[in-house]
Amino acid sequence: MQTLWDHRYAHRIQRMGSSAVRELLKLTEKPDLISFGGGLPAPDVFPVDEIADACQRVLRDMGARALQYGTTEGYLPLREMIARHTRRYGINVTPDNILITSGSQQALDLLGKIFINRGDRILLESPTYLGAIQAWNAYGAEYVPVASDKNGMITEALDERLRTGPKFIYVLPNFQNPTGVTLSLERRHHLVELADRYGVPIIEDDPYGQLRYEGEHLPAVVVIDGEYRGSPENPYSGNVIYLSTFSKTLAPGLRLAWVIAPQEVIRKLVQAKQGADLHTATFNQIVAYEVAKGGFLDRHVHMIRRIYKERRDAMLAAMDSYFPPGIDWTQPQGGLFLWGTLPEDMRSADVLEIAIKQKVAFVPGGPFYPCGGGHNTMRLNFSYATPETIREGILRMGKAIRQSMK
Ligand SMILES: Cc1ncc(COP(=O)(O)O)c(C=O)c1O
Repeated sequence: MQTLWDHRYAHRIQRMGSSAVRELLKLTEKPDLISFGGGLPAPDVFPVDEIADACQRVLRDMGARALQYGTTEGYLPLREMIARHTRRYGINVTPDNILITSGSQQALDLLGKIFINRGDRILLESPTYLGAIQAWNAYGAEYVPVASDKNGMITEALDERLRTGPKFIYVLPNFQNPTGVTLSLERRHHLVELADRYGVPIIEDDPYGQLRYEGEHLPAVVVIDGEYRGSPENPYSGNVIYLSTFSKTLAPGLRLAWVIAPQEVIRKLVQAKQGADLHTATFNQIVAYEVAKGGFLDRHVHMIRRIYKERRDAMLAAMDSYFPPGIDWTQPQGGLFLWGTLPEDMRSADVLEIAIKQKVAFVPGGPFYPCGGGHNTMRLNFSYATPETIREGILRMGKAIRQSMK
């Protein structure tokens, strides 16, 4: 139905849809439904007591500062802590290379705001993170998809795509959302070399890097880029813009994340952020700093890894037991998700319809493909439910898949 408002919206609204995942999550809020849908951390890993203590301490000792406006760049001690942490991995960043954002989602939006003109092409993995596509659609981005396999983005296919003159490359190297796969070391180097050769920047989105359950830590693309440039004494001024977040290690409700970038890019992002929200909540930043300092976060992440590894293992084992032959799935070494592929002639949306009746939900993979496809794929989250619930949910899914096959 047409309303009076329809002709008033800006052109950019035309490509703004509500995220299919968010819509689906509404369906799954029923208490007896087992949901593998959202990307939610387990509520039992939130450090509620530590955050409560920190809130009280902050209000008592520095209440006026914590409740006041702050700088757009973010709370300096927090940025210093992130800089120290990042330098441990061998890349020289100062607080001037860091901007605190209200979630990585805001960072993606601000990057769209400062870089994307209508019609600009972005090279990205297909499938990729839906939230990035949602943010950049509003700026009129066009997408050039690059296929991925179990070693992440197929960089061998990049050379040709880079000739289309993209504005930047968007990549999720660790335990990618949605597939759970990790970009191999060899491909990380290849990506950095190619991006440098063609003069195309890389946006590296890394919310899950710390959540590795097996295998060796791989250097971030930004670290490889720093080494490649070989000027460790100067603050980072390379080709990569790196994003990470406290959402999966502390709590997503705090809405706290950070961008690492050359200082001149940070200055532009700061201007863009001023127009968006002036700054990220001062109180949340100070509380997060108080909780994280002194090594608590490292210990906490250790605990999260142990719990999520158990859940991942429970899901993989249950899929082995309960899924019919003909279904493939990834074996993520970390993160929150795995990715299933049904036979070509099946549609995961059909399976979902049956699954919801069996009181289990997942996300069909189609919306994660920026240029279409993936009708027979699905994303499953393993961090939220307990191992027993995961086993029961996968049993129900196995039944739904068999029924859909008939
Ligand atoms: C790849 C990726 N980027 C960004 C985000 C947004 O995270 P935040 O909670 O920091 O906004 C997510 C959240 O799931 C994600 O998976």
